[in-house]
Amino acid sequence: MAAKRRNAFVVLLGSLLGLLALVLGGAWASANSKLHQHYTVPQALLTAVDPTPTPALLAHGRSVAVADGCTHCHGDNMGGKDLGETKMLGTVPASNLTRGGPARTVAQWALGVRHGIRRDGTSLINMPSEVFVDMSDEDLGAIIAYANSLPPVTTPVPERSIDFKGHLILAMNMLPMAAADTRHDVKPAVIPPGVSVERGRYRTRLCTICHASDLGGLSPGFSLSPGSNLTPSGDLGGWTEAGFVHTMRTGETPSGRKLDANHMPWPTFKDLSDEDMRSIWAYLHSLPPSTRQQPKAGAKAAARPAA
Ligand code: HEC
Ligand code: HEC
Repeated sequence: MAAKRRNAFVVLLGSLLGLLALVLGGAWASANSKLHQHYTVPQALLTAVDPTPTPALLAHGRSVAVADGCTHCHGDNMGGKDLGETKMLGTVPASNLTRGGPARTVAQWALGVRHGIRRDGTSLINMPSEVFVDMSDEDLGAIIAYANSLPPVTTPVPERSIDFKGHLILAMNMLPMAAADTRHDVKPAVIPPGVSVERGRYRTRLCTICHASDLGGLSPGFSLSPGSNLTPSGDLGGWTEAGFVHTMRTGETPSGRKLDANHMPWPTFKDLSDEDMRSIWAYLHSLPPSTRQQPKAGAKAAARPAA
């Protein structure tokens, strides 16, 4: 009797282990096919980028590389960096973008930045290309020129390697692959030179991450850094253009309030050109006033749990 029960137990355990092996094997295979999937983009979307360096283009490239967060992840020297935030996957370092790193054609740059595609045609991980998908030819050319102008960094960046846990996380879609998460038919934005609402709309792509897609502000709880209402019904309704530019360059609002740089990353925006700053102002001022109820920016900062 006891032997029979033991046998039944062994059979049950055996089938459970078998099932587990099947699930894990399936997850491993699914993650592997995601890691090896190839992506293509119409060639016409990749040309027309001109990285010929001029002093104006280099200055523009630096300000955009900082404002768009390239230096945040790829390092101030753009030499690449192991990012702690993807430790759960294994090792997924941000690539070396200087001339000390792998050689890249302009088309390969465009694939990486706008489409999340590696030089071998597979997807990048944790490269936020969905935000940069419409990057203008001017911005991309300027960033490439700036990266090429930097001292080549030759310290090797570790190879990307996804461990077993990482395969499970990818299989469960808990961290999307950059190329799968990005539309591949979007045309680069064409931004006319000079101050314009259109340039301002384009420059606020990243602001929407924290200030909501209509820039009417996020409620605390939806974000670690709920940004305030930037439309004319918020604080900015009473500001002047000069007051706005001063706030973005110094982190101090017209009423003398200091913005918390850990939540509002003004230091990354402070070197945007006057043309860009004034365009952002023109765009914010053109927005329909948001009618969503938003707590005041200062009140929100105070309500946040201490970090
Ligand atoms: C959130 C962090 C993050 C930000 C912001 C970011 N990158 Fe990346 N980037 C990465 C990571 C991580 C990789 C490598 C991913 C991999 O190997 O799967 C990468 C890869 C790339 C590649 C592909 C390199 C290759 O060898 O194919 C290029 C080009 C690139 N980034 C350029 C940029 C530029 C330009 C910006 C700013 C507009 C930028 N990145 C912003 C994290 C980031
Ligand atoms: C990482 C999140 C984040 C991003 C990205 C971000 N902001 Fe903010 N912003 C905040 C937070 C949070 C506050 C409130 C900060 C405080 O009260 O100290 C804020 C406050 C502000 C204020 C002051 C508003 C007021 O009512 O006093 C302005 C102006 C502003 N942001 C403009 C921008 C612009 C323009 C961009 C894009 C170029 C941007 N922000 C991008 C999080 C962000």
